[in-house]
Amino acid sequence: MEKIRRELAEKAQNDYHRLKFHIMPESGWLNDPNGLIQYKGKYHAFYQHHPYSPELGPIHWGHVISDDLVHWKYLPFALTPDQWYEMNCFSGSAVDNNGELTLMYTADDETRSPKQVQCIAFSNDGINFTKYENNPVITAPPSGFSEDFRDPKVFMHNDLWYFVAGCAKDNRGGILLYSSQDLRHWDYRGLACKSDGTQGEMWECPDLFKLDDTWVLVISPVNMEDAKCIFITGDMDFETEVFTQKQWHKTDYGLSFYAPQTFLDEKGRRILIGWMDMWGNEMPTQKNGWAGALTFPRELFLKNGEVWQQPVEEINLLRKRKLHSGNIFLNNGKTNNLNDVRGDCIEMKFKIPASEKCNGKLILNLRSSEDRQEKTVLSYDFCSGSFVFTDRQAESRLPSVKDTETIQVHILIDRSSVEIFLYGGKYIITNRIYPQSASIYYDLYTEGNDIAISDLEIWEIDT
Ligand code: FRU
Repeated sequence: MEKIRRELAEKAQNDYHRLKFHIMPESGWLNDPNGLIQYKGKYHAFYQHHPYSPELGPIHWGHVISDDLVHWKYLPFALTPDQWYEMNCFSGSAVDNNGELTLMYTADDETRSPKQVQCIAFSNDGINFTKYENNPVITAPPSGFSEDFRDPKVFMHNDLWYFVAGCAKDNRGGILLYSSQDLRHWDYRGLACKSDGTQGEMWECPDLFKLDDTWVLVISPVNMEDAKCIFITGDMDFETEVFTQKQWHKTDYGLSFYAPQTFLDEKGRRILIGWMDMWGNEMPTQKNGWAGALTFPRELFLKNGEVWQQPVEEINLLRKRKLHSGNIFLNNGKTNNLNDVRGDCIEMKFKIPASEKCNGKLILNLRSSEDRQEKTVLSYDFCSGSFVFTDRQAESRLPSVKDTETIQVHILIDRSSVEIFLYGGKYIITNRIYPQSASIYYDLYTEGNDIAISDLEIWEIDT
């Protein structure tokens, strides 16, 4: 097995589309981020992982560690599906229990009923984990619920441990709440929240936390129309043990985003990392021995009752060379080829004056081939007030925003990904793209209008 893994890793190493500043598997398959935590000062990220093939297979927990959220090192697998109660170690979370790093995860075995039970594992060094001898700690979902019962997210509230896990009942997704004094014995508290009827049949990877004075529930609903992952803001009442929904909005508008998880770091930041891919997506890197990556870490904040996201400031540590700085005036119909900008790992920031005139379009070509046949395009329509993102695969169209003066655009480009943060973090587009290595050109131009782009800053990014 180890030989297979090493051979796959070697094959993967030679793939041009390996990312430079995102977490990805050394070999094989990756999906959800798990167990995100800062423990004894170090950042740990775990992930759903099948190391022996680039396809879904017996799921392990892969593990990486970092001092700064941007330089990551591989550690040995934290969990391997090797017990009688599991064929897969499905998603879960991590907490620091007085120095003991505790993982809680779903042991999955489709051949058994119930197929999903909850388990824990411990470590005192953050590297070697021991599964609890009395696993599973929860052996079945509460009666009346479907066997889809997974992805426990543990947190502490008023000195008590709680977790929320995804569930389904009568074809509606929901979250179950449990509490414990010691992380080993759990009491079922109830169904804390469920779909309003439009929010999917089952809720995967729930996360519940307080941001300022608002409770936020993040879920990845199965079969919700037009949304793969949503933030729900509301109130969590620990007396009634009910989360009341106020409003929801999409977490990301791209095609490569699912199952995010958050954690609170020692600086008090609520940081989110998602799977930067999606079930059913085409994954061209599979032929090179690997698939899947995690998003760049994002800091969450509350703005006008919504959850907004920005790349963590540690992106600064990766800025190797400034390629451009200043304002650019774009004459109608004339292309600025951004001749000083070439590359496949790029950070770009600029501002668009939204209120100037209601006509025309701004167009940005990213990762273009020299002949512009291959390209990824972000365009902004001044009249409708909305962005459209297009690559070879598909088009993402964003809602229009009219009540804004300047529009901030912030883009992170890695070898096979693009993450776009718009309006200072209100809307995000995350997509995997697979351009050729020679597609390193960027253009800015307008149609039907002269436009002054301000504060354009572009860096070459490297670790
Ligand atoms: C979400 C998910 C989780 C599950 C895991 C399995 O992508 O389906 O619900 O625990 O992936 O890998």
